[in-house]
Amino acid sequence: MGRALSYASILFLAASAGAEILPRTLTNAAEFASKQYDYLVVGGGTAGLAVAARLSEDPKITVGVIEGGQYMPNDPLIDTPRSAISLQGNPKYDWMFETTPQPNLNNRVIPIPRGKGLGGSSMINLMVFNRASKKEYDAWGEVGNTGWSWKDLLPYMKKAERFTSTDPFRANSSGPSGIYPSQGQNGPIAASFNDWYSDMTTPYNQAMVNSGVPMNYDPDSGNPFGQYNSATAVNRTTGKRSYAGTTYFAYNAERPNFVVLTGAQATKIDFENPTVTGGKLRATGVSFVSNSTDYSAYARKEVILSAGAIQSPQILELSGIGNSTILRALGISPLIDLPGVGEDLQDHPFISASYELKPGKTTFDILRNNATFAAEAQAQYANTHDGIYATTISILSFVDLKTFVSSTKLNAMRKQLDQEIAASKPSRLQEKQYQIQKSWINQKLGHVEFIFNPGYFGAGPPKANTSYVAMLMILQHPFSRGSVHINSSDPLAKPTFDPRYFSKSFDQDSLVEALKFSMKVAQTEPLASSIVARQDPPPNVVTDADLLTYAKTYTRTIHHPIGTAAMAAKELGGVVGPDLKVYGTANLRIVDASIIPLHMGTHLSRTVYGIAEKAAAMIKSG
Ligand SMILES: Cc1cc2nc3c(=O)[nH]c(=O)nc-3n(C[C@H](O)[C@H](O)[C@H](O)COP(=O)(O)OP(=O)(O)OC[C@H]3O[C@@H](n4cnc5c(N)ncnc54)[C@H](O)[C@@H]3O)c2cc1C
Ligand SMILES: *[C@@H]1O[C@H](CO)[C@@H](O)[C@H](O)[C@H]1NC(C)=O
Ligand SMILES: *[C@@H]1O[C@H](CO)[C@@H](O)[C@H](O)[C@H]1NC(C)=O
Ligand SMILES: *[C@@H]1O[C@H](CO)[C@@H](O)[C@H](O)[C@H]1NC(C)=O
Ligand SMILES: *[C@@H]1O[C@H](CO)[C@@H](O)[C@H](O)[C@H]1NC(C)=O
Ligand SMILES: *[C@@H]1O[C@H](CO)[C@@H](O)[C@H](O)[C@H]1NC(C)=O
Repeated sequence: MGRALSYASILFLAASAGAEILPRTLTNAAEFASKQYDYLVVGGGTAGLAVAARLSEDPKITVGVIEGGQYMPNDPLIDTPRSAISLQGNPKYDWMFETTPQPNLNNRVIPIPRGKGLGGSSMINLMVFNRASKKEYDAWGEVGNTGWSWKDLLPYMKKAERFTSTDPFRANSSGPSGIYPSQGQNGPIAASFNDWYSDMTTPYNQAMVNSGVPMNYDPDSGNPFGQYNSATAVNRTTGKRSYAGTTYFAYNAERPNFVVLTGAQATKIDFENPTVTGGKLRATGVSFVSNSTDYSAYARKEVILSAGAIQSPQILELSGIGNSTILRALGISPLIDLPGVGEDLQDHPFISASYELKPGKTTFDILRNNATFAAEAQAQYANTHDGIYATTISILSFVDLKTFVSSTKLNAMRKQLDQEIAASKPSRLQEKQYQIQKSWINQKLGHVEFIFNPGYFGAGPPKANTSYVAMLMILQHPFSRGSVHINSSDPLAKPTFDPRYFSKSFDQDSLVEALKFSMKVAQTEPLASSIVARQDPPPNVVTDADLLTYAKTYTRTIHHPIGTAAMAAKELGGVVGPDLKVYGTANLRIVDASIIPLHMGTHLSRTVYGIAEKAAAMIKSG
């Protein structure tokens, strides 16, 4: 990404004596570096801003945040839910990483967006706001993490969110009314439900039910199995995305002890006497680059790494923490040999299918097809902040394998899996993970997520003046394991991201079976009679072999990398312990998605906010 960093600015708002809030004061990187902080947070993203905002609640504690991107409040592309997808691949908002060529995906290179700006990936994500099951959170504890389970994390997930309404589909069912006790009502992130639904939504829901996927009107309380209308991180009063930048940061930006530097890229953690062996390394601050100039800032108490699942391991390695062999090969002196850094990368790959509809159906496609409708919808969004422009995807199904894979096929897949696991020489942590994941195969957990997208979501161009429905099939518990590592001692070079999608054939077989199931759902009433034809995969793609080729040609990712600084027992190969401290350090914590040790059936932001809230509480309590 070169050294062409945009100008740096310190954003903080001096607290006024009275009630009046003074304008934000901008200064520069040199001024940021000249201050001393109790806590320095690297990365002002989803987790970083949450943890920094909570720590700065104590006015005696000074918190500094170093963020690579800019603060972009009132940016309609970010704020308008319907435009979210256009943020990906735009360097103004996205770090624009990509995978290495993936051998099991026809050697394709897959784009890996990551939010760059205050708010991080919560600034560019699709605003789905859901949770995994109790069982999946409890599995974190099973890899050596005392104090981490559903019960332990739930209060902190709740602390981040503010529900003010209930699911309209639940209101129409015989389900109970009111905001559930599992849903928070006092946090900064606005949690709400779409107020626009396609006329294809109910037919789709019923076709899913008729295919064996039950409705679930209480997915947030620890059992999200089945089909539901997910909450969204959208403020329904303003119609805008609700994310870390405009909440955790903006709501607290007047605090003089909450100092945020933007446009500055952290390059390494600084340590006290780093050559001394034995004992624990003590972080003293962070080096960073701004406007092609090197700086470092000082932290009295702790450094908190919240640069996300790709860049937190990158910064660890640049700082001398990681697999010594990898570091030495790049001329970096290892300070702590921690081979788990950058390993155990797990992601959620997906494949989609799009169906052309008979004329007269209202889907997202109408914004492309009918300029009058689009203009009216835009006016509605401007005036009352609701409607189709305030809508994101929300109809999700979390389905077990037994619902759509025959027992003969599943047995064959399992046999093959055991052989491939043995051949892959799994690490101790992976052995433990696989043991847990295998026990999940026959349980009513969401092995595959099916997203209903009322609109085209295929690889090719949609036909002119045509409406579609699409289904996205997303693998939730991948057996494939990849890695992210630096490939250069240049801190501004992109790390090498290799998720090794489909390196376990169980993963590709699960997705191919899910694709077949989606084709069955499309042939089920009351959905079937609205469909003209399948467009993706093309109608002539029918056999298992053809579907596999299709999957290899079109599978991409829903952008949920985790596990690259896994919280797990040291003996298993973990990177951080249950206190989130990097093994071998006294005061360096990781607080972001990279610590999640095992993948789960959910989108991630709500869990990441919970991790950050829990981390802040742990740090505050000493
Ligand atoms: C396109 C996309 C769509 C998604 N859709 C959804 C969804 O609908 N629902 C959902 O729940 N989840 C979704 N996710 C996942 C979810 O948003 C992320 O898992 C979560 O936000 C990650 O939070 P984090 O704190 O780990 O990292 P991030 O939020 O990415 O924060 C990392 C921060 O660190 C900064 N940074 C990195 N390196 C440096 C450095 N060297 N110096 C300074 N700053 C640095 C980055 O700019 C960024 O601000 C999506 C993700 C993406 C990318
Ligand atoms: C709920 O029912 C009402 C009345 O039948 C209907 O107008 C509305 O569209 C339904 N809402 C949803 C989300 O299905
Ligand atoms: C929505 O945004 C408005 C304006 O910032 C704010 O006052 C309100 O509290 C927010 N709502 C929720 C539920 O967070
Ligand atoms: C688009 O399709 C609709 C419905 O079939 C039709 O009424 C309309 O004339 C079409 N518009 C164009 C530009 O083809
Ligand atoms: C386009 O949308 C407008 C406004 O909703 C509607 O009146 C019109 O019938 C639509 N045109 C077509 C061809 O469907
Ligand atoms: C890693 O760096 C080497 C040397 O610069 C280069 O040849 C190679 O292509 C890089 N590998 C990746 C995966 O980027």
